[in-house]
Amino acid sequence: MNSSPQDWKLDIDAEGIAWLKFDKQDGGTNVLSESVLEQFVAILTHLEQQPPQGLVIFSGKTNGFIAGADVRAFSPMPSRENALALINRGQRAFDRLEALPFPTLAMIHGFCLGGGLELALACDYRIAQDDDSTRLGLPEVRLGIHPGFGGSVRCVHLLGALKAMDLMLTGRTLAARQAVRLGLVDYAVPARQLRDAAKSMLLKPPAPHQPGRWDSLTNHRLLRPLLAPILKRKVRAHARPDHYPAPYKLIDVWERYADDRRRMLDAEAGSVASLITGSTAQNLVRVFFLQERLKGLARAADNKVKHVHVIGAGVMGGDIAAWCALSGFTVTLQDQSPERIAPAMGRAAKLFKKRLKIPYRVTAAWDRLIPDHQGRYIERADIVIEAIFEDKEVKQKLYRDIEPRLRPDALLATNTSSIPLEELAPVLQHPERLVGLHFFNPVAKMQLVEIVHGKQTSELVMQQTQAFTRAIDRLPLPVTSTPGFLVNRVLMPYLLEAVALETEGVPAVLIDRAAVEFGMPMGPIELADTVGLDVCLHVAGILGSALGLEVPERLEELVSEGCLGSKSGSGFYTWRKGKPVKPRPDANRKLPADALDRMMMRLFNEAQACLREGVVSDADLLDVGMIFATGFAPFRGGPLQHIATLGKEATRQRLAELAARYGERFTPDQGWND
Ligand code: NAI
Repeated sequence: MNSSPQDWKLDIDAEGIAWLKFDKQDGGTNVLSESVLEQFVAILTHLEQQPPQGLVIFSGKTNGFIAGADVRAFSPMPSRENALALINRGQRAFDRLEALPFPTLAMIHGFCLGGGLELALACDYRIAQDDDSTRLGLPEVRLGIHPGFGGSVRCVHLLGALKAMDLMLTGRTLAARQAVRLGLVDYAVPARQLRDAAKSMLLKPPAPHQPGRWDSLTNHRLLRPLLAPILKRKVRAHARPDHYPAPYKLIDVWERYADDRRRMLDAEAGSVASLITGSTAQNLVRVFFLQERLKGLARAADNKVKHVHVIGAGVMGGDIAAWCALSGFTVTLQDQSPERIAPAMGRAAKLFKKRLKIPYRVTAAWDRLIPDHQGRYIERADIVIEAIFEDKEVKQKLYRDIEPRLRPDALLATNTSSIPLEELAPVLQHPERLVGLHFFNPVAKMQLVEIVHGKQTSELVMQQTQAFTRAIDRLPLPVTSTPGFLVNRVLMPYLLEAVALETEGVPAVLIDRAAVEFGMPMGPIELADTVGLDVCLHVAGILGSALGLEVPERLEELVSEGCLGSKSGSGFYTWRKGKPVKPRPDANRKLPADALDRMMMRLFNEAQACLREGVVSDADLLDVGMIFATGFAPFRGGPLQHIATLGKEATRQRLAELAARYGERFTPDQGWND
């Protein structure tokens, strides 16, 4: 061989089977970088010259096969030409793998994603380890692109267009057995039999998997023009083409070229090169890195928590307890009486069933969640999470009562959404152990948790709380203990402006539609109804007094009439079966031209204020926090990134114009001058 590979290691066994191990030397996860592909090609050249009986490609990492292409190569991407050259190199490597004159097999364990699965698809066979850690998928759309190393071409021909498109358009991942059912993998076998199964397949190679007749037909040139619009319509329900072009481009490439493999490969590469240099993919790749950064924050300490004790089994505490039990922790749940714990246990049962499916795992999670209305287990807890009424005196009294019973090294976390930690901590003997752990509602859905750093909170407690947050598969965002912390504070002015518009007579449906068209997952009026108008009013009241926000009377009126939103069946909308009934607005009724600006500019202004005050340590954390806690248009990269796109000075001027017209709530924050 004319190169000396470091990341790949080739061994030939007594029966002439080549075992090619991928173990990237400079990282804990296998990813396909330029250098990795270069080494791979050198090995292919060697194998072409001295063909073995068969080739098994496998990973030397415990966590998985290959996680995908090295995303670092995409950020920043210098030019479309460079992107295309990189993609073409990958395509050529996998084409050569596919053309080898002996049988080839990918032996998969752990994750096998994106470029990793594309490599596996270029093999004749795939077998996967049959356990919980195995996940296969083509999640490229989540980064604003689609498969580019020939994966879309191979996938549609292996599975048929509908199954392949479902995999690529949703970006979902499959367990080993699901992958076998779909035809993506030939066999799912237990770990101990993996090598033997691989070997016997290569020594007696069966015919490679073929799609069924109907599945093949879906690629027929007469059917494609009929199926493509159906696929696009399905995508449209989740993503607009101007916001997320990748799925639409993928359908186009397939529709036009599925008959001609070479042209489809070229079109696939050209399409990915254009997408990756576009703003959506660049923003999504940035968000991916920022998410990694949040995960990295948790690595400053090891998670020491095994036993979680939650006090308060209401909306939040009950769901936090269930989530922790689902994540494998022993959880004890305390409230004032068993009756108050019962509804939380009912919700937990539903969550376990939905997420874990297999009965013995549901039972195991159920065994981990222990009702403890008298708080008998509090002495054993590594972390106590308090989620009782939002009342300073009530919380202080509880802290006084429980502190003597806590283990000396136990963390004390509060889920308060508004009370500064500095006001709660003085009643403690050890105020440094108190930290905020601010979950969002619904707990099982919202990935971000604000880790609130009171002035008295110790650094070690911050680090341990962040490590625990990761251990329950949530993203920790450190914030200061200031009113509303980050997320509610930035969101509230936007919500209140939407309520002001509604009060002025603009139909709620039009307000919500404008926000969704901007890229928010749900409009602000529907969001207010979903969160609960009482909760909104409470947070608005606190922020109102701290930041001088005006709370619209309409919100107070609705709450005093008992119209609390989805939970009471009516709020701004009437709710039926958990969904808002949205009246069709009069066709002549138009949204005022500046309505969207009024809402968004207030959000941007508050984001600038939080940055100036150091609520989070930098702009990137602010952006990623708003994306993962509120779903702020990820393809725009977060509020501050979006301001940069609009132009900071232009945005400030727009605020000044709105302030002249509508009053001082729009006055640009001093942060704009920094
Ligand atoms: P909730 O009213 O649904 O539940 C509170 C529970 O605490 C009740 O079951 C009550 O019996 C129990 N409780 C009160 N005093 C207690 C005591 N001394 N000992 C044991 N149990 C006691 O309240 P929710 O909405 O779950 O809020 C809890 C905390 O979470 C509050 O601090 C709130 O600000 C915060 N939060 C609420 C969010 C929401 O959307 N509801 C979102 C984020 C934070």
